[in-house]
Amino acid sequence: MAKDVIIALDFSGYDEVISFLDRFTGRKPYVKIGMELYYSCGPRIVEELKKRGHSIFLDLKLHDIPNTVRKSMKVLAGLGVDMCNVHASGTIPMMEAALEGLEEGRQGKRPLLIAVTQLTSTSQEIMERDLLIDKPIDEVVSHYAMNAKTAGLDGIVCSPLESEKVHKTCGEKFLTVTPGIRFAGSETQDQKRIMTPEKARQAGSDYIVVGRPITAADDPVEAYNRCINEFLSIKI
Ligand code: C5P
Repeated sequence: MAKDVIIALDFSGYDEVISFLDRFTGRKPYVKIGMELYYSCGPRIVEELKKRGHSIFLDLKLHDIPNTVRKSMKVLAGLGVDMCNVHASGTIPMMEAALEGLEEGRQGKRPLLIAVTQLTSTSQEIMERDLLIDKPIDEVVSHYAMNAKTAGLDGIVCSPLESEKVHKTCGEKFLTVTPGIRFAGSETQDQKRIMTPEKARQAGSDYIVVGRPITAADDPVEAYNRCINEFLSIKI
């Protein structure tokens, strides 16, 4: 069920992010900090955006041995992020260790933990050639989603086209966080499997992650409000 719109802050500099967010004087958007921004600015970007009242999805996609992931997640939970993620290919013991780390480091509520299944850049052909996985890719994605559920995670990142199937397999409460969102009739850029915010709501996405349709819009606040209106069916 539709919960919120997350803006992907795909900027590399601190000042750029702050001046972008300064435009949002009403509803404070939920934001996604990716690797580029986090590696260029460090934890202070999280601290600053928390101070400004934003909920934060820290998209660092951890994948390492369980002990390292557990200790790293403890640090990230200590920053007060609201959502973070790991690669499901790190296996069930690694995902369980990630959850333990979040429990150990949490400040109040435990951050939500989401798994990346197969990256959308991985095709069937590449998966077979480089990873020696010869099952159909949608079966691999469903299997990884079930592994994430077994490990106790809260959900997965997937295309909005897959939300319904994931909910059928893993249950309605298992969260689907879906990028690949475009307004009707707009540029798709490099995204292939897209949906409008309204269609994503109808498909059962829990959170939509929206980058360029908001960050590159002439009026980002208006584009964000449009996403909220369409996805959450509320007028702001
Ligand atoms: O600009 P756009 O709306 O395409 O941005 C989507 C965001 O979601 C980007 O930060 C991108 O890295 C992220 N993402 C994605 N597809 C995935 C996982 C993450 O587009 N499978």
